[in-house]
This record gives sequence, C-alpha cells and structure tokens, in this order.
Amino acid sequence: MHLLLLADPSTELVEEYLGNGTSFVAVSDKRMIGVCVLLQKGPELIEIMNIAVDEQYQGRGIGRQLIEHAIGHAREQGYKTIEIGTGNSGIGQLALYQKCGFRITGVDRDFFNRNYSEAIYENGIKCQDMIRLSQSLD
Ligand code: ACO
Repeated sequence: MHLLLLADPSTELVEEYLGNGTSFVAVSDKRMIGVCVLLQKGPELIEIMNIAVDEQYQGRGIGRQLIEHAIGHAREQGYKTIEIGTGNSGIGQLALYQKCGFRITGVDRDFFNRNYSEAIYENGIKCQDMIRLSQSLD
C-alpha cells in the first residue's frame, strides 16, 4: 500500500481498483520495490491504474520495465488499446509514458479537484487536471 499510495493518494480509490485489477510487482532481495496495476475498462480496453517504484530505486529503469511488461501482457491478452492517466503536474510521468509509446488523447479538466479532498502539488504545480494517454496494441 505504501507504494500504491505514492502514485495515488486515495486509499479508497486504490482499494477499489486493486480488488478488480491485475497487479505486477518488481522485487529485489525479496523486497517489493515496484508495482503496476492494470484494470479492464472495456472488452478491448485496459488501463494502467497505478505504477509506482520505491523512492530509493527510482531513476533506474524499473518504472519503464513495469510499463513495458504491462503493455506486453495487455497485448498477449488480446486487448486493442491500453490507456494511462496522470496529473498535469507529473512532468516525469508524462515524459516516461510518451517514451513508452503513449500519446495524449485528452484532458479531464478538474478531475483531481472533483475526486481528491486534499490539494496535491508536484514540481511546484497544483495537480488539477488528468492528462489521458493511450496507445494502440495492434
Ligand atoms: N524529464 C524527462 N524524462 C524523465 C523525467 C523528466 N522529468 N523523469 C523521468 N524521465 C524519464 C527517464 O529519463 C527515463 O527515460 P529513459 O528510459 O529514456 O532513460 C524514463 O523517464 C523512465 O525512468 P525510470 O527509471 O524507468 O522510472 P522510475 O523507475 O523512476 O519510475 C515512476 C517512474 C513510476 C513514475 C516513479 O518515479 C514513481 O514511482 N513516482 C511516484 C509515483 C507516481 O507518480 N506514479 C505515477 C502516477 S500516475 C499512475 O499511476 C497511472
């Protein structure tokens, strides 16, 4: 849960998708150092709901490996599209997702203002809007 909350500060939302989703973990020395949760959103659509790497292990390519594994799994399962969303303030996340092949498809304005009671700041920017990205698995 510590890892999952790095990516999503809402325990309620995390518990909701965790129960219904498929999770992958990255392990080092028997310790869980990364996590990725996928959730089916439609017959041919799956979403990466949560991706997080332990602070000590960030910047070593583990996040990228988890995303690439999730994309491979989704393709193997026959999904046609994979989606991911992140806050407008997540500069590093937006860089990573685009490096992994995702393209921006839209903006869910005020998503974080509507769904999170506490204000979230990242990189000195208030997190208010959800940037939606997707990629085709064909
Ligand atoms: N500008 C440009 N590129 C960047 C930046 C940046 N600010 N930050 C990261 N990158 C690039 C890296 O250079 C790297 O590119 P490369 O592979 O070409 O060298 C790439 O992003 C991936 O870096 P990794 O080392 O694989 O990423 P890491 O293991 O640190 O995991 C993650 C990334 C999961 C976002 C991690 O930093 C983390 O856990 N953050 C806190 C939780 C979080 O914000 N999760 C995402 C929320 S959204 C969601 O869950 C759907």
